[in-house]
Amino acid sequence: MLHLLLLISLGFFLQLAEAQSFTVPSKWRKPTTTLSRQDRLTLVNGLLDTVHPALNTTTGMFQGLSVPQTANMLCALSIGDRISNSTSSKDVVLQSLNTTFGRAPNIVTLRSPQLNSDAAVWGLAAIYSYKAYNDQSSLRFAQSMWAQVNRYMVTTDDATAGSHPEKTAAFPSTCNGASNAGAVFYIANNVNNTVVNSETVGTFLALSAYLYEQTQNVQYLSAAELSASFVTTVLYDGNAIRDGITLGTCDTVNDFWTSNSGVVIEGLSILASTHSTYTSRLNSLISATIPYSRWTNVSDGIIIEGPTSAADANSNGATFGYKAILVRGLYEAYSRIPSNSTEASFIQSFITVQLNALTDLSSVTGSNLYSPKWEGPPPTQLLPWGQLAAVDVLNAAVGLAEDARYDLHAITLL
Ligand SMILES: *[C@@H]1O[C@H](CO)[C@@H](O)[C@H](O)[C@H]1NC(C)=O
Ligand SMILES: *[C@@H]1O[C@H](CO)[C@@H](O)[C@H](O)[C@H]1NC(C)=O
Ligand SMILES: *[C@@H]1O[C@H](CO)[C@@H](O)[C@H](O)[C@H]1NC(C)=O
Ligand SMILES: *[C@@H]1O[C@H](CO)[C@@H](O)[C@H](O)[C@H]1NC(C)=O
Ligand SMILES: *[C@@H]1O[C@H](CO)[C@@H](O)[C@H](O)[C@H]1NC(C)=O
Ligand SMILES: *[C@@H]1O[C@H](CO)[C@@H](O)[C@H](O)[C@H]1NC(C)=O
Repeated sequence: MLHLLLLISLGFFLQLAEAQSFTVPSKWRKPTTTLSRQDRLTLVNGLLDTVHPALNTTTGMFQGLSVPQTANMLCALSIGDRISNSTSSKDVVLQSLNTTFGRAPNIVTLRSPQLNSDAAVWGLAAIYSYKAYNDQSSLRFAQSMWAQVNRYMVTTDDATAGSHPEKTAAFPSTCNGASNAGAVFYIANNVNNTVVNSETVGTFLALSAYLYEQTQNVQYLSAAELSASFVTTVLYDGNAIRDGITLGTCDTVNDFWTSNSGVVIEGLSILASTHSTYTSRLNSLISATIPYSRWTNVSDGIIIEGPTSAADANSNGATFGYKAILVRGLYEAYSRIPSNSTEASFIQSFITVQLNALTDLSSVTGSNLYSPKWEGPPPTQLLPWGQLAAVDVLNAAVGLAEDARYDLHAITLL
């Protein structure tokens, strides 16, 4: 009995140790808005008018956006249609997927070196399309990209053996005191390269979790659980998700990007909605990621990660629309927790700060042109990567409008 009490109080203290703060800092600039759902839809539609014509129907890519950036734009378009119960982007999304998979059934062959992160993010674009439009070829694309990336995952047996069928280089069974099972190699066409990055593992985690949710096939759940374990142990520094690691030497890459935490938040939130063991890890990550001073300006709450010059498409922070991926992950987490929780209102406030930065600081009203630098100034011309980073924020803003959840509940009840 004493033993039991001890265990119970130990559990209690462990929970306390993991207690999270979801208090909105008083310094955040404008964490509320009076924009109606219709006002927000008008912002989304104005932005989409600049995006839809930019699809190059020969290549399947958007003008000015790279292979992974195009996939991220497709993700945002499908999510936007789901949130607003619309099909306005359906033709553009399906045409891009069809053309691109027609050109390169295995997406990694579009670039050199071949990157599994490209396959993972195109898989994610395809599963969002399936969720939005119930299109069967989108589901097949997603499953085929999952199979491509899964070939590069370190299984429990591979970790024990310290070897992998796709790599000649050996690696230890553990790094940073945790198992290397669930690692996913970044580069597909170099047998000597054992770099594993969170862009690949985290995106694969989210893709696996969605595929499990849509198909109930347990192979996807196993992959999601294994990659979740790796990314939240070996690649977690206690605050945020590291950029990567060379498995052969256990040398970590201690760079931190919003997108890396964003895809992991997204993946964990899907897992946590059916497996509560993931809830505390998810909550710790959300409470640490949002105010992290590497990317959130503590003086106003605006995400400042990004290019030094707005016109620079290639510097870190602009390349993958990084900030958008964090907002996307946070919105997915928000949509799966009770809307009256302090965590939900923390996420809502943070996204609203970004919305107000986009409308007040990084754009001129009515221009529908957004700078990738959310503290401004507004751009003088269309910057495709500025538009890309804005879509997920405006989508989320529509979903966060007070009546949005009410609609969703109404649909469920009908
Ligand atoms: C589409 O991309 C191809 C290949 O890069 C290019 O030759 C063509 O001009 C582009 N089309 C448009 C309309 O920009
Ligand atoms: C969603 O769109 C469909 C088709 O336009 C419509 O029938 C349905 O009523 C809409 N649902 C909501 C909640 O607006
Ligand atoms: C693209 O669509 C066409 C027409 O529906 C179809 O014949 C073709 O197989 C599709 N391509 C891919 C890669 O699915
Ligand atoms: C891998 O390493 C071996 C031995 O050093 C070398 O011969 C081979 O060219 C390397 N392969 C690649 C793809 O770099
Ligand atoms: C952070 O926000 C403050 C207040 O808006 C601003 O003065 C400062 O320039 C911002 N810092 C960075 C690094 O953007
Ligand atoms: C949230 O709403 C639910 C259902 O209406 C209610 O049972 C719960 O007590 C509320 N929680 C908070 C923190 O207000």
